[in-house]
Amino acid sequence: MDIGTVMNTMRDPAGVPAHPVLFQGLMILTWIFHIAFVHLTLGAAGLAIYGFHHRATGNDWERLSMAMTKVAKVGVSLLIVLGVAPLLFTQVIYDPQWYVSNVLSGRWAIAFIFTLIVGYCSWFAFYYANHEGAKKHIGIFAWIALALFCLDGLIMHALSYQALLPGQWMNWYAPGGMVDTSGSALHAIQWPRYVFIMGLSVPAVGVFLIAYAHYFATRSDREPEYRQFARSLGQRLAYWGFSVSLIPLLVWQLIHPSGAGLTAHPVGWLLALSLVAMAYWMRRLNDRTHGYLPVAGGLGVLAVLALWREVVRIAHLKPFGYDITTYTVHVDWPSTLLFFTTFIGLGGLVGGFYLTLLYRAGRVQGLYTAERFVARLGTGAVAVLGVWIAVFFAYGIAIWVRNSFL
Ligand code: HEM
Repeated sequence: MDIGTVMNTMRDPAGVPAHPVLFQGLMILTWIFHIAFVHLTLGAAGLAIYGFHHRATGNDWERLSMAMTKVAKVGVSLLIVLGVAPLLFTQVIYDPQWYVSNVLSGRWAIAFIFTLIVGYCSWFAFYYANHEGAKKHIGIFAWIALALFCLDGLIMHALSYQALLPGQWMNWYAPGGMVDTSGSALHAIQWPRYVFIMGLSVPAVGVFLIAYAHYFATRSDREPEYRQFARSLGQRLAYWGFSVSLIPLLVWQLIHPSGAGLTAHPVGWLLALSLVAMAYWMRRLNDRTHGYLPVAGGLGVLAVLALWREVVRIAHLKPFGYDITTYTVHVDWPSTLLFFTTFIGLGGLVGGFYLTLLYRAGRVQGLYTAERFVARLGTGAVAVLGVWIAVFFAYGIAIWVRNSFL
């Protein structure tokens, strides 16, 4: 049996509840937010460490280091939460590839969880200790955390990349005909791809700093000099970050498998062009530009990257006869409706309420009293949550009754 047939046979026999392209679109979309927070976390962590080693009592680096330590702390939790959605969508349409890849590197897939826990605990230790006049040796916790986060990125990368290489699975599973069930190897790493994606953390923290300086313009405890320091540092990081990341991207472009049509593919070059455009813009950025616009530009780059990863995946799997559009579809309208109303109602209203509240509260020094519209948004969020819980249980109970008693 050839591996293409194996892959198609390993698909979930229950099929998918709506057209596969819907899940593909959601996978691409949700991954943008996952990787945005990966970048923000790694960039903020790197900057926090740099600032920590360049601090002097009361100087801007000390302040920035403490602020970025908090950003990375929150960032890790968000990158984890936001990683779940693309993970679920990958498992819906690319389940054979994802599970094979995970089983072939089982120990690493499990080690991923533990290293992430240890890394996050280590970052918390740094966070608790990194205050004015902190002892130098506590920096070790930050270094350990950053190293483990980079290792986790490498594991994620290997799991993603191995999934694209079904032609090699048998060699990894039974090298020389001897079955190896240890799962102890990361079988394939494409360094330019890894370095490129992870390296985008540098421009990401750059555009973040520009937005950070803008955000705190309303607060007198963030003096103009400090904000100017953050903004010009951000501009430099963004300019150099976008410029230098072109190198690993171009190397990645040149090592795609021949005949896959990837090296000349327009989406790959659009990605390169978006980096050049961002670098050019960051170079010429002036104080009149709204501070949040560079973040929007950065998300645009990530949207092209997300799309490009999918184009690369399709090109790798096509020769094996794997095409998501042939996935069995068993349309299930109630669950699709429940999904989208959850996405829009809970994600939009409850998530929107939290975001608005945090955004508004952070811009006020001292005690924040919610404005009328924020208070109303809060009431709406609680109401929609109540409705959602009621529908969720009613739906489950209705199915249980129908299956068990009718
Ligand atoms: C510090 C922790 C993490 C880092 C540094 C990280 C980094 C990355 C990177 C660099 C990629 C792209 C790999 C590539 O395309 O070559 C990626 C993909 C991905 N990550 Fe993460 N990640 C982390 C944690 C997580 C967690 C906790 C989850 C799930 C809850 C997750 C879910 C995903 C998914 C679903 C993909 C796409 C896989 C695919 O398309 O095949 N990540 N991550």
